[in-house]
Amino acid sequence: MNILKNTILLFFLSVGLIFIASCSSPAADEVNVYSARHYQTDEDLFKEFTGETCIRVNLIKAGADQLINRLELEGATSPADLFITADAGYMLQAREKNLLQPMERSVIEGIVPSYLYDSEGYWTGFTKRARVIVYDTAKVDPSDLSTYEALTDPRWQGRILVRTSKNAYNQTLMASIIAANGEEAALAWARGIVANMAQEPRGNDRDQVKAVAAGVGDVAIVNTYYMGLLLNSSNEEERRIARQMGVFFPNQDGRGAHMNISAAAIAKNAPNKKNAEKLISFLLRNESQQLLAEVNHEYPVNINTPWTELQMQWGEFKPDTIPLDQLTPHLSKATKLFDEAGWK
Ligand code: FE2
Repeated sequence: MNILKNTILLFFLSVGLIFIASCSSPAADEVNVYSARHYQTDEDLFKEFTGETCIRVNLIKAGADQLINRLELEGATSPADLFITADAGYMLQAREKNLLQPMERSVIEGIVPSYLYDSEGYWTGFTKRARVIVYDTAKVDPSDLSTYEALTDPRWQGRILVRTSKNAYNQTLMASIIAANGEEAALAWARGIVANMAQEPRGNDRDQVKAVAAGVGDVAIVNTYYMGLLLNSSNEEERRIARQMGVFFPNQDGRGAHMNISAAAIAKNAPNKKNAEKLISFLLRNESQQLLAEVNHEYPVNINTPWTELQMQWGEFKPDTIPLDQLTPHLSKATKLFDEAGWK
């Protein structure tokens, strides 16, 4: 039995070696990725990319702030080819700091809707997420929900859960509210939400949903995919909590629900620009988009990729299609207004 096992093991090892040997040409082709995303799915996709193209993916993972600092410090000698963030705001910052270069238009055009990529091709979304209102189905009638703005109504006093204003998802949401309603109204919105918070902001999006389940508040502002992750959690309690919640897409009679993206960009001094473009194309192709949707519950950005069953269950909705690159001037104001409103 053991001999058989060892033989099988040896067989797989040798297949692995052959595979590696076939991919290690003298001038090893590679692509250096700086990623602020920390998902197993991404690494699985990178492995698949290497298997198909023989381009080795060298992955450096850190926070988006740290990676932007690193790109700035490394300057012209940076080995970074591809920069990946889990939020549009950091990409806008990276472009403002002149850390990116445009990609070939054919990588994105006709594949991704134009509001999800930089108009000059400096970055593109490769997954999207809606920032929605999750509510306790036992306590909230969804017909009482309508817009982000309506959550400032006194009827929601002590009932809203949302994370800190230091969080990029909230900053990008705020930038979209400034773009839609102007600074004064955006400040009033932030003040109204602070007045209705169930507790001081703490924890991540998942923690907000858990706090709703624990009865700390009744509604939470969170990204859709966290609901997908909770519903499919290995932890039974997390699955139970998620099943108790409803997902509401706000602002459907107006501009639509706020959309954020995970984005990819070519670094300004990329030594392997072509490989970085190949990897972006790979992430945008149907099979990769489907995997990201199935495993991570993010919405595909490829216009031809179908939604998952869960996403279909959440239902069709109207997204806010303001081009994300137009949020750049509002981002720094977002932080300022949050501070002014006392949103921790
Ligand atoms: Fe996230």
